[in-house]
Amino acid sequence: MSDFSELAALDADNVMQTYARLPVAFVRGEGTRLWDSEGKEYLDFLSGLAVTSLGHANPEVADAIADQARTLLHVSNLYYNDVQPRVAQRLNALLGGGGRVFFANSGAEANECAIKLARRFGQANGGPDRYHVISAYGSFHGRTLATLAATGQPQKQETFQPLPSGFRQVAFDDLDTLEGALDGRVAAVMLEAVQGEGGVVPASPEYLQGVRRLCDEREALLIIDEVQCGLGRTGTWFAFEHAGIKPDIVTMAKALGNGVPIGACWARAEVAAAFLPGDHATTFGGQPLAARAALATLAVMEREDIPARAARAGTRLSEGLQKVDGVADVRGAGLLIAAELAPGLDAKVVAQHCLDSGLVLNAVTASALRLAPSLLVTDAEIDDAVAIVAAACNESRSS
Ligand SMILES: Cc1ncc(COP(=O)(O)O)c(C=O)c1O
Repeated sequence: MSDFSELAALDADNVMQTYARLPVAFVRGEGTRLWDSEGKEYLDFLSGLAVTSLGHANPEVADAIADQARTLLHVSNLYYNDVQPRVAQRLNALLGGGGRVFFANSGAEANECAIKLARRFGQANGGPDRYHVISAYGSFHGRTLATLAATGQPQKQETFQPLPSGFRQVAFDDLDTLEGALDGRVAAVMLEAVQGEGGVVPASPEYLQGVRRLCDEREALLIIDEVQCGLGRTGTWFAFEHAGIKPDIVTMAKALGNGVPIGACWARAEVAAAFLPGDHATTFGGQPLAARAALATLAVMEREDIPARAARAGTRLSEGLQKVDGVADVRGAGLLIAAELAPGLDAKVVAQHCLDSGLVLNAVTASALRLAPSLLVTDAEIDDAVAIVAAACNESRSS
């Protein structure tokens, strides 16, 4: 079945209606291209929300997945498997070594692991009251109850009260407020180096450096959530590298399996040692299929020097967008970009015009578009996307 109205009806009758979906169903992808159920072709400048960083149906990742599917999909974490530690080794190397990795299945679960680990470490070293986590307003850390409690968006939290205790938010990129909140009960500060869902808002390097210093002084751990930014997207392997800092815990997910669900929580070995066997677990985490997808993804990323490509392509995309009549400002890093629209333009309306013209992106705020294409995007694809955004801004003005 591929007719869109049939699919939409099937969805309405059978799927929980938690998403405000746009009226399009994608059925195939290749590189930066997508095709919908009606056969229409699109340029994908969203990558499934910063997930398919190597493009759709990447041949090397697809071959690895197919080979692994024919070999061994899954064994329980009661046993070793021959892929999981190799992925951990690669991630550990990218993070400078000296750490340990826990594998999960999503960004929220990677963060859940980080929060539990920080509590365990904090209480072991600072006593029973040291379990609080401070995060920032505008942040997004996930939708499980604990990660929702860490997410600095009160409107998302309102309907799920009471949330777990021990979470508090402070203003983003404001060191004084953080300093005031960092008392002896704080186990960890949890931040995104670029707030993705919050509107693609980068923290200043000075702020992140200051947070690192304060965490050291007050014996709090620094957790950096790299779920959206991590693995090359911002022009460095991890977005915190722009500030030259080293976190104690790093979480990642989206791009790690190029679309196969996998999350990871890396921690300095000393911190990771706070978890004892039995403290934390998940059935699927680091199973051979997901781990093999990650291994293949990382191999392509390293060979292609993906961070450098993202930096170069990001400059071209930013410069192109800056020239668009209707774009007031461009922010972000590498290929995680927000185009702030000129006053009077509604991002949802412009995004809909883009979709109609065959360009997938999203309205990350009421007035800004988010662009996060494959990190292998070509110059010609970037130029085409910019031209579509320019036309969509014009259409929005005249409609
Ligand atoms: C920074 C950040 N952390 C965590 C999450 C949650 O990840 P997931 O949706 O895989 O649970 C997201 C998702 O957008 C994210 O952007």
